[in-house]
Amino acid sequence: MKTRVLFVCLGNICRSPLAKALFDQHIEKNNVPHLFSTDSAGTSGHHAGENADPRTLKNARRNGLMLNHRARKFKTEDLRLFDHIIVMDRQNMDDVLSLDREGQFSDKVKLMREWDPEQPGADVPDPWYGGEEGFQHVYDILHRSTDHFMQNMLER
Ligand code: 4NP
Repeated sequence: MKTRVLFVCLGNICRSPLAKALFDQHIEKNNVPHLFSTDSAGTSGHHAGENADPRTLKNARRNGLMLNHRARKFKTEDLRLFDHIIVMDRQNMDDVLSLDREGQFSDKVKLMREWDPEQPGADVPDPWYGGEEGFQHVYDILHRSTDHFMQNMLER
């Protein structure tokens, strides 16, 4: 049985699609496609059906990563369907946990930067309102956080 991992942000067009793509890249590099299935979602459905933000696509391409994405809204059922729900910031955490009425799935929900050795437990900043350098900053954070998350998963 594969471990099911869901990455979550607000719009599902900047941070979580990139986190998923980077984790998928680590899956490929570690040769473990039989161990994981992945997806991403947004707590808001505002951008549902859209590809990733053009600035995210451009930055990913510059880093040699191709994104193929369609945004979707996080649904209550995801709490049951996934083993790990990795949120980008505390607002995402609150929004996801508010759907967990009986608190039975709260152990599955973790902050992405719990696995960032440089700033453990910090929020992944929302790059939406900033410039291009913000997208590279998010890329760097997510590249190392997903790598450490993967190593942690493989050590279990
Ligand atoms: P994301 O970024 O949560 O990383 O996908 C955002 C995308 C869209 C908006 C905000 C943040 N928005 O306000 O539409």
